[in-house]
Amino acid sequence: MKSFVIPAAVVGITVAGLLTGPAQADMASGAVLANTCFSCHGTDGKSVGDMPTIAGKKESFIAKKLKGFKMGSEDSTVMKRIAKGFTDAEIAAIAKFFAKN
Ligand code: HEC
Repeated sequence: MKSFVIPAAVVGITVAGLLTGPAQADMASGAVLANTCFSCHGTDGKSVGDMPTIAGKKESFIAKKLKGFKMGSEDSTVMKRIAKGFTDAEIAAIAKFFAKN
């Protein structure tokens, strides 16, 4: 699976919420997919409750965790079910999104 290479400028634009064209599609999907996570991890991944905050964590950490949950090598209650719903490319996009938030 090819990993995503997204220019920093695109990431900045996307995080600012200014999605303007197809060039931002990869990052846009990261932002859209990330909506799934907000209900538990807080808006933009900034938790106010018992769930861990994931915003601003290292991209490699988030991706590693999600892949671990998916493969069952990381202990989890709910994350294993959630992580299974995403491809490695989607995980990379999600990890990038939260790392920049
Ligand atoms: C139903 C609630 C729920 C949703 C939705 C959810 N998570 Fe989680 N997340 C958890 C819980 C609970 C844990 C602790 C591990 C476990 O028990 O599964 C966790 C742990 C994590 C961790 C590890 C954090 C750490 O510091 O160890 C990461 C990374 C993570 N989630 C990312 C995500 C991403 C990305 C999404 C969206 C695709 C998401 N989560 C959606 C509940 C949720």
